[in-house]
Amino acid sequence: MAVSRLTVFEFRKVSHTFGENAGALVLEDISFEIREGECVGLTGPSGCGKSTLAQIGAGFVTPSRGEVLVDGRNLTSTPSRAVALIHQELDLFPWLKVEKQILFALQKADTSRAKELISLVKLSGFEKYYPNQLSGGMKKRLALARGLAINPKLLILDESFSSLDSNLKYDLYRDLRLIWEKTKTTILLITHDSKDLQSLAHREVKLSAGKPTRIVEIVEMPAL
Ligand SMILES: Nc1ncnc2c1ncn2[C@@H]1O[C@H](COP(=O)(O)OP(=O)(O)OP(=O)(O)O)[C@@H](O)[C@H]1O
Ligand SMILES: [Mg+2]
Repeated sequence: MAVSRLTVFEFRKVSHTFGENAGALVLEDISFEIREGECVGLTGPSGCGKSTLAQIGAGFVTPSRGEVLVDGRNLTSTPSRAVALIHQELDLFPWLKVEKQILFALQKADTSRAKELISLVKLSGFEKYYPNQLSGGMKKRLALARGLAINPKLLILDESFSSLDSNLKYDLYRDLRLIWEKTKTTILLITHDSKDLQSLAHREVKLSAGKPTRIVEIVEMPAL
């Protein structure tokens, strides 16, 4: 499973403190890069700062120190849709049907692309359903399609499937693997459970438990 050597995304010496001077240092000196088409897993115990790093990677939070680079350029100077973040709560619009959610993300009336994305996440036939008419797993797949719709340089999944029972969770990781094979989307997969990475990730970035959080090690995963 060849991955390009081209770096598309990089955390460079990122440190973060919430609040003004008095705040505690949450993340310290986080540096790693993600290559084009690669899936990197990010793991660490609850509260260590994974979601904070996801928010920084998506440009929603500015790090106290360090930089985020997309294609070698600071995230603040790259198009706002360069990174897609899907978190646990999904943020689906309750008032929009499946197809409309995708069209909204596409920002144009490209129904054939919407159809393609809906089929990619196995939601064909459910175009006219509202989110509350979908199962938990289907909602996750809709969120995935919405993330992919913007054709991001990097797709960040922050514990996106964690709330599901384990069978459904592993089904979704398998689906994500198949989607990755078709799209070769560059992915940062965040989870507290390293087992979630088994069928997908090329490398695992492990964060420490003690504060401030640092990278413990970066492990190459067995060839997929
Ligand atoms: N907006 C905020 N203001 C102040 N502190 C915050 C804020 N968001 C997160 N924190 C703190 O930063 C630390 C890291 O939180 P974060 O949510 O990033 O951890 P996490 O690794 O994603 O945890 P989990 O596995 O439970 O999702 C925690 O101590 C948390 O209380
Ligand atoms: Mg989190």
